[in-house]
Amino acid sequence: EQIEKKGYDHFMLKEIYEQPSAILDTFRGRLLPNEGIIKMSGIEDNLSKFLNANRIVIVACGTSWHAGLVAEYLFEDLARIPVEVEYASEFRYRNPVIKRDDVVIAISQSGETADTLAAIKLAKSMGAFVFGVCNVVGSSIARETNAGAYTHAGPEIGVASTKAFTTQITVLTLIALRLANAKGTLSTSDYKKCLFDLEAIPRRVEEVLDVNDQIVKIAENYSDVANCLYLGRKYNFPVALEGALKLKEISYIHAEGYPAAEMKHGPIALIDEQMPVVVIATKKGNYEKIVSNIQEIKSRRGRIIAVVTQGDTMIKEMADYAIEIPETVEFLTPLIATIPLQLLSYHIAVMRGCNVDQPRNLAKSVTVE
Ligand code: G6P
Repeated sequence: EQIEKKGYDHFMLKEIYEQPSAILDTFRGRLLPNEGIIKMSGIEDNLSKFLNANRIVIVACGTSWHAGLVAEYLFEDLARIPVEVEYASEFRYRNPVIKRDDVVIAISQSGETADTLAAIKLAKSMGAFVFGVCNVVGSSIARETNAGAYTHAGPEIGVASTKAFTTQITVLTLIALRLANAKGTLSTSDYKKCLFDLEAIPRRVEEVLDVNDQIVKIAENYSDVANCLYLGRKYNFPVALEGALKLKEISYIHAEGYPAAEMKHGPIALIDEQMPVVVIATKKGNYEKIVSNIQEIKSRRGRIIAVVTQGDTMIKEMADYAIEIPETVEFLTPLIATIPLQLLSYHIAVMRGCNVDQPRNLAKSVTVE
């Protein structure tokens, strides 16, 4: 096992650090910026299904559901296709309305999650075309779906998903961009630029991993907290949800993710000098609005950890800690902003003496209901 961890203390840390190469593997042979094309056979072979889709319905569980939420922003923003994101466990039992011209995308790292598998079978029985985004080759979900795209993240051993999440987002970004190109919702030159921006992501992720030492110091100050709130807007909202999930999964600290503007409809009542609030506040994505959300927290003496874009000054002044991440185009922010949150959860959990790779009560793959 020590050999498999390649010198890292835990599989989770190894997998966090593998993300630049995992993302590269995900788009190897698929992303060709110089030629201005994306090549994915699962999409090309079924392009008309996607282009004629009335809407896309995404079904998934856990972290994969968060990747689905990012995809909602991507598909609607870039390709102008309406999207609904469903917990597979709710979808399968609530008598959903699914029509033949709906495309269902099932996202699953393991490809074995019972609820997701059941949701796929239901959608197929109602005539929908079902596309899978899986990591495990030959898994049940990969076999049950009509077509699909693998994430190629390599085996993920840590129960808390890290590289599977960012590679799921990478595949979904490739699909969204290809559909945007086919539909003409992005001009050829904008499309080509997006391909180069995506190609640069592994380098950006490599850079953001340099915040590790700073995060160890932040974690030292937060390892004894009882609660933590995570806030973000637009593309950073699913990032906030995923940040909160990571923390609760491995450190057993109660954490909640919220769209920052919804804070005033509830969570703001919780904010006092004991409450740490992690705000994903990158330059692109409603920056002014998030600044005012941070002011609201500050005036109630909440402890703010902000994830900001390199060079930010305004939020840095307001926050107790600011973690700077490299700038990228807005739709690629989740791939960068997620990384410091993974590291923060990891270090806090280690400091609390938790079993990071195998948290209590959790399973890597939930094959029963
Ligand atoms: C379990 C795992 C999570 C995962 C979820 C969905 O809860 O602990 O990390 O996100 O299942 O799994 P899937 O394999 O379908 O992505």
